[in-house]
Amino acid sequence: MATVSDFIDGERLWQRLMQLARFGETAEGGVDRPALSETEIAARAQLVAWADEIGLDPYTDSLANLFLRLEGEDSNLPPLLIGSHIDSQPTGGRFDGVYGVLAALEVAEAFKSSGIALKRAIEVVAWTNEEGSRFAPGMMGSAGYAGLRSVETIHALRDGAGTTAGEAIERVLAHDRNIPQRSLKRSAFGYIEAHIEQGPILENLGIPLGIVTGIQGKRTFRVTVEGEENHAGTSPRSVRKDALVTAIAIIDALQKAVWDREDVVRFTIGHFAVSPNAPSVVPARVEFSIDLRHPDADTLIRLGDLVAPIAKGHTGPCAVEVTQLLHDAPLVFAEEMRDLLARVASASNFPAIEIASGAGHDARHLHAICPTGMLFIPCWKGVSHHPSERIESDHALAGAKVLAQAVERLVG
Ligand code: GLV
Ligand code: MN
Ligand code: MN
Repeated sequence: MATVSDFIDGERLWQRLMQLARFGETAEGGVDRPALSETEIAARAQLVAWADEIGLDPYTDSLANLFLRLEGEDSNLPPLLIGSHIDSQPTGGRFDGVYGVLAALEVAEAFKSSGIALKRAIEVVAWTNEEGSRFAPGMMGSAGYAGLRSVETIHALRDGAGTTAGEAIERVLAHDRNIPQRSLKRSAFGYIEAHIEQGPILENLGIPLGIVTGIQGKRTFRVTVEGEENHAGTSPRSVRKDALVTAIAIIDALQKAVWDREDVVRFTIGHFAVSPNAPSVVPARVEFSIDLRHPDADTLIRLGDLVAPIAKGHTGPCAVEVTQLLHDAPLVFAEEMRDLLARVASASNFPAIEIASGAGHDARHLHAICPTGMLFIPCWKGVSHHPSERIESDHALAGAKVLAQAVERLVG
């Protein structure tokens, strides 16, 4: 008997991955597609055009999440959601997020072609601002959908240029005039997100699929150091209020405080801005980010709680402020979803292992409201958030086939 997965077309999926990579493509071969940007608006229009061709109905909401719905027999039942995100880091690759959205689109198209009836709708979803590089914290579309953050809080976030997320969303929705807008908070029957691993484990083992057990915890902070501008040639160092000198001392102290011999702690200062950033001016202000992650909830609390006292302990000539932006505890995905994905991978003869996610995903927030699972495929040398991010088309196909099987078992 034919199954939906027989209708998955690996070549079509690959061509779409390559086509979507053109929106925001960079000279280095990667993608720069900020959340809610003109580039993302264009990529979104491409998704909607494909949905049109397939016969899916597009919907959006007050956070500009995009849903492409394939109706089921009972339209009153909550849908099964499958997808990920299409925004990227500024120096991102072609597959982070996009793979999950396009694999889901392929599954929806395979259902259409197969003629297999769906008991309930499936919705292919592209969540708004997963990456959090333009508006922090990220994963805001899925957080709002799951009711974990308010629309007002999210709309008030500002990017580096001072634009609010609310204004940026309004611009996107103006392009989406013809797409019906639904209320934000909705119930979901379940959620499955396919994604590239963004780490080297699957590739090293030669295994095409990872059944994701859960996501490690994460805390993020913004630190600002306020000093005073002065002349580099005339002001004595003993009286300066040099924000950069203080910031460097804070970072050095934090690095040492969170260092672990086991190398499990992840501690990153990825954003660092000095102002006025001129060679002959004593730096008056520094703002930097802290991204701290750990799989153990208590350790994450303990280490994260060191940040403010250590940073503020360097108050002296300069003022120091610490704001926590996010505290997401580690989580374990629903056993029923992990079992289902493992069973369908095995039935499809694709080797699979259980694997923990070091990266964050929108699945984190869906996990709060419905049974949620994730599926990883390998990526080259584990490299991600980098233009050289690369995957094999065979792995892309394997992931889409297993996703299709899982969806069929849930709603077919
Ligand atoms: C998501 O992109 C993350 O930073 O984990
Ligand atoms: Mn991602
Ligand atoms: Mn990412």
